Amino acid sequence: MTLPDSVTDKLKRILAQKSERGGDACLRFDPGKLPFLIRETFPGYESYALEIGCGWGEFTRAMAAANPGRLTIAVEKKLARVLSCGRSQKHEGLENIRYVILDVAWFFAGIFADETFDAITINFPDPWPKARHHKHRFISPEFAATLSKIARPGCRLIFATDNYPYTREAAETFEQSPLWKNTEGPYLARGHIPGRPVSFFEQLHRNEGAPIYFLEYEKT
Ligand SMILES: C[S@@+](CC[C@H](N)C(=O)[O-])C[C@H]1O[C@@H](n2cnc3c(N)ncnc32)[C@H](O)[C@@H]1O
Repeated sequence: MTLPDSVTDKLKRILAQKSERGGDACLRFDPGKLPFLIRETFPGYESYALEIGCGWGEFTRAMAAANPGRLTIAVEKKLARVLSCGRSQKHEGLENIRYVILDVAWFFAGIFADETFDAITINFPDPWPKARHHKHRFISPEFAATLSKIARPGCRLIFATDNYPYTREAAETFEQSPLWKNTEGPYLARGHIPGRPVSFFEQLHRNEGAPIYFLEYEKT
């Protein structure tokens, strides 16, 4: 969907205002200074990860604690959740997470520099189960193409959900992109990744007895 410039300008101003209020760990969203140059701004890490839709950040913090040499950029559209993440991170004494308040359904191309990330995680994106709401899902061919640009060669991308139709749709999208190779074989998902922290929504769905689908891709 292409929005008129006046609308995108207004949306960018809203995000810039939110990022001003997002706390110490939140990166300022300045539309005049994009893309974010994460590797140059935060040099010295062994690797750089992107998480999209981090929610309250339980998974993000568990991964950051287990991988102190990795910087995670956690993207979340809700200011209140980013504030909560920042407080919890401070409480846990973690330095290696920064947040970007961003709605990736509005803006994603051009936000991060090419070949920035070694790992990308999308945990339990809102599934929008009703057909008339599918348009709100953010996985699309354009989105997969942008992900492949900001991923370094060898980058691992994990998409997790309890929603089977969204798994199929995401698989369809990534499998059609020549730059993403399914690590399990075409269209295959796993139900469990040993040693991986469990996110808030994963726990919620597991408690309900729902099957979980993990799609894993490698940038070729
Ligand atoms: C179902 S929750 C999952 C939270 C967490 N990843 C987990 O597994 O517990 C989805 C999260 O993605 C965020 N989100 C949804 N759409 C988004 C978008 N277009 N851009 C950025 N964040 C988004 C929501 O605000 C919410 O925090």
